[in-house]
Amino acid sequence: MPELPENTAVSIHPAKKLQQVLGYAEPIFNASMAGAAGGALAAAVSAAGGFGMLGIGGNTTKEWIDGEAAIAASSGRPWGAGLMAWVLDKNLDPLEQVLEHGPSFVCISFGEPGPAAALVHESGALTGMQVGNAAELSRALEDDIDVVICRGNEGGGHGRNEVSTLPLLQLALEKTNKPVIAAGGLATSAGVAAVLGAGASAAWIGTRFAAATESMSHRNIKDAIGAAGIDDTIYTRAFDIAQRIDWPVEYGGRALRNDFSDNWAEDLEALGATVDASDALTDSINEARAKADPSLAPVYAGQSAGLSAAGQSAAEIVADLARFRSVLQQAAQRWEFA
Ligand SMILES: Cc1cc2nc3c(=O)[nH]c(=O)nc-3n(C[C@H](O)[C@H](O)[C@H](O)COP(=O)(O)O)c2cc1C
Repeated sequence: MPELPENTAVSIHPAKKLQQVLGYAEPIFNASMAGAAGGALAAAVSAAGGFGMLGIGGNTTKEWIDGEAAIAASSGRPWGAGLMAWVLDKNLDPLEQVLEHGPSFVCISFGEPGPAAALVHESGALTGMQVGNAAELSRALEDDIDVVICRGNEGGGHGRNEVSTLPLLQLALEKTNKPVIAAGGLATSAGVAAVLGAGASAAWIGTRFAAATESMSHRNIKDAIGAAGIDDTIYTRAFDIAQRIDWPVEYGGRALRNDFSDNWAEDLEALGATVDASDALTDSINEARAKADPSLAPVYAGQSAGLSAAGQSAAEIVADLARFRSVLQQAAQRWEFA
């Protein structure tokens, strides 16, 4: 099973070590996204040379995990999974279930990863953790985490709203020789080149892959992401309050602004009182989710929605992002001393 080799006399950059250990050609990970990153997306990304991740949400059944993990593994290429630490605090079963399928890398984010990280290591896989501020970064530099994922607040889905991707990445690169992956706001070969040029080991990309053909998201949701601009998102807890989902309060979510967020995001107290008083609002948002109505349902997406299109395959996206090499080459030539 994979293991990050110790530093030898000849120093190998952490990016190359991680690539060797996880065995991908392109330093492109699809983010673990509950509701979007099922086995089909993970398998397609791995088959295209990137590293495919399964997103395991809060209410995931064993049947779902068994089915989707088998699909993720069907590419014959290495793959991984991401789970929420605050969910695993209550029940480690989803982690144990996915580990039975042999992922090479497991990312435990949003809370204290301790016992879960120990289980991952027992299985022989590498551990990762998404971090959203300096304190979480310090936590991730402890021994039980192998790979740090710096997730800036421009990113889609849940996370902290404290620091953006580049400051967090720069801090991490100053502090550690562990592989550091950049996440949040990356959707083009230029963005990937920027973080790899800075020293990141890979790019972790959510929103653009959420709109891919292999994503589990409904077509309406993908179209809404494809139609959005970079300034069409909002960071809010309103959707969680309305759905009575008990995410820890420090982790709100970045989603497309819509009629629901326009009505409620500015007044969470009134929203809480309304939800406490009756089921009507919760029912209406659950119905909107079932119908994939983007005007009311949460469409989790980051600022990079404005750089993402619906209807592209994961292979097309990986190939497009892999053009980071020519971006880096052109930059090197541009700034070469005469
Ligand atoms: C639709 C969606 C669902 C997400 N679900 C999860 C999740 O289940 N677990 C997780 O660790 N991160 C989740 N995230 C966050 C991503 O892992 C990642 O941090 C983020 O997508 C990076 O920013 P980007 O969207 O700008 O690429 C989700 C993101 C999106 C867009």
